[in-house]
Amino acid sequence: MKLSLVTVPTLLLFAGLGSALNHRRGTVKPRRTSSLLINPDAQPDLPTVQAATAAASSAGLNLDDIQGDVLIGMKKNQELFYFFSIGDVADFKSKLASDILPLITTTTQLLSVSTQPITALNIAFSSSGLNALNVTDSLGDSAFAGGQFADLKNLGDPGSTNWVPEFAGTGIHGVLLFASDTVDNIDAAVSSLESDLGDSITKVYSLQAAARPGSEAGHEHFGFLDGISNPAVDGFTASPMPGQFVADAGSILLNETGDAVTRPVWAKDGSFLVFRQLQQLVPEFNKFLTDNPIVEDGLTTQQGSDLLGARMVGRWKSGAPVDLAPLFDDPELGADPTRNNNFTFEHPDATLATNQTRCPFSAHIRKTRPRADLGTPEETVHHIMRAGIPYGPEVSDDEAASNTTTTERGLAFVAYQSNIGNGFRFLQQTWANNAGFVHSGVGVDPVIGALAGAQRVVNGLDPTNSTKSITLTTGELCCFAWWRVLLLAFVVCDRQQALSLIQFLPATLVHTVTLFLQDIFVVIILLGHCRCWVDRI
Ligand code: HEM
Repeated sequence: MKLSLVTVPTLLLFAGLGSALNHRRGTVKPRRTSSLLINPDAQPDLPTVQAATAAASSAGLNLDDIQGDVLIGMKKNQELFYFFSIGDVADFKSKLASDILPLITTTTQLLSVSTQPITALNIAFSSSGLNALNVTDSLGDSAFAGGQFADLKNLGDPGSTNWVPEFAGTGIHGVLLFASDTVDNIDAAVSSLESDLGDSITKVYSLQAAARPGSEAGHEHFGFLDGISNPAVDGFTASPMPGQFVADAGSILLNETGDAVTRPVWAKDGSFLVFRQLQQLVPEFNKFLTDNPIVEDGLTTQQGSDLLGARMVGRWKSGAPVDLAPLFDDPELGADPTRNNNFTFEHPDATLATNQTRCPFSAHIRKTRPRADLGTPEETVHHIMRAGIPYGPEVSDDEAASNTTTTERGLAFVAYQSNIGNGFRFLQQTWANNAGFVHSGVGVDPVIGALAGAQRVVNGLDPTNSTKSITLTTGELCCFAWWRVLLLAFVVCDRQQALSLIQFLPATLVHTVTLFLQDIFVVIILLGHCRCWVDRI
C-alpha cells in the first residue's frame, strides 16, 4: 500500500505543478487553467460563484460546508471511486485530519476554474465504517444503518450473486471520490494519498469511470444524454431552468431546511450517497431495438427502432423529451436547457390519466419523476441529486457485429439525498419496479425496473397500440452492485472560531489542526461542525 513518492512517475508531473503535499506545506497550490468538469449545452450550467454565494447567503446555506460532488450533478470528466477499509483506527483518525481533510474539495471551490484543484477529492463513510470508527450515533436513516443486504428484496435485486464480490460483506468502510480531467492527474493524486496514508487504509475495490469521448460526453452508454433533469437546490441554484424541480436544501443535505428528521449536529450538510454499479448490455440493447421497431406511418424501420428507445427512456438520444417531440428527435430542443425540461406530461388536447401517445407511463423519466401525474403542483418529497458517470470502454466493432457484450461497461450510479427511503429506494421500489405505478397495468420501468430476476412486462411503448405488452426476458440491463455510504460534511469556519474550538480537540489533533492554521489558512479550517465530526471520529 505504501508507495514511495519519488518512484511514481505520474506523481512527478503532479508534484511538478505543486502536489497535495506542497499544498499542505504552504507552497503555492497548483491552479487550473481549464475546468475539470464537462459542460454539455443541454445540461443546466452551474451557477457562478457570485450567484451561488448570493443564493446561499439568502437561504442560510454555507457552500464551503458542502463537499463538492453533492450539488454539481453529472458533470465529471474522469472519476475514480476508491473503496477502502480502515486498518489501524487510531492511525486513520490522525491521518484523516492531517492528510485527507485539507484536500477535500468544497462546492465553492468547484464552481470556478481558478479555485478548482488539479484533482478534486471527496470522502464518504459507510455505516460499518462509522461503526469501525466507534461512531455509533443514529443518523436517522434505517436504510443507511441497515446496509445493502437488508434492502436486497426491497430493490427487486435477484439476490447478490451478480454483485461485485467485494460488496458482499461489511468490509467497505468508505469511499474516496477522485475527479479530474485526466486519468494521469487522478493516478498522481491516488499515489500521493496512498503514500501518506500508508497502512491505515486498504483498497478493497476501485472503479475508474469517465465521460464518454467527443460529442458523446454527457451521454450514458445506451447513447442518451444524461444529467438534464437534476433538481435545482434552494440556496445553490441561482436561476432554475423552466421545468426544473426546485428542491429544499434539506431534501439533499442533512439538518438543512426541509430535512424533517432529527440528526446529530455533527452530520449537518452531509448527504447520503447511494452508489450502484449498473452494467449496461449495450449491443444487446441495440439488437432489441432493431428487432422491435415501432411500426407507424411515415417512419422508416430505423426511425421506428429509435422511437422505441426514446419511449423507453422518455427522451431522445439528444435529450429532447418525447413529451415535446413525440415522433422524431429534435436535437435543437434537446440542446436547449431553457426548453428541454419544460414539460409536465399534461396537454390540453389529451387526457392526462390515459394518454400515452407522447410519453409512455412506463418511460424511465416518467417513472422516476411523474411530474403532473401525481397532481399539480408537483410532489416535493421524492427527489434525488444524480451524480453518476459512465464506466467501461466504448462498444467495439466485434461486440457490435456479434450483438454481444464482451467487456463490461455501464453506469457508476450515484445519488445524493437526505433520506434514502424517500429518495433512491422509493424511486426504485415504489415507482420503477411497480407495474401498477402510476396507473394500474402500465408495467415496470424498462431501463431500471427489476423483479428479482422475473420477466418484466412493460406496457405503453407502442404509441399506435397502448395495450401492447413487451416482455423483457434477458434483462437489457443488469444490476451488479449497490452500496450506500454517508457523505460527511466539509465544514469551514473562520480562524477565531477555529482557534477557540481547538481546545476541545484531543491533544494529537490540536497539533495537527494548529499546523493547518499556520500553513494553509487560505483553505480554511475543518472545524466548526467539523470539530464535531472530527471529534466524533
Ligand atoms: C444504467 C442505468 C440507468 C440509465 C441508463 C439511466 C438513464 C437516464 C437518462 C438517459 C435520463 C434522462 C436524462 C435526464 O433527464 O437527466 C435519466 C433520468 C433520470 N434517471 Fe436514470 N438511468 C439509470 C439509472 C437510474 C436509477 C437507478 C435511478 C434511480 C432509482 C434513476 C433515476 C433517474 C431520475 C430521477 C431521472 C430524472 C427524471 C426527471 O427528472 O425527469 N436512473 N436516466
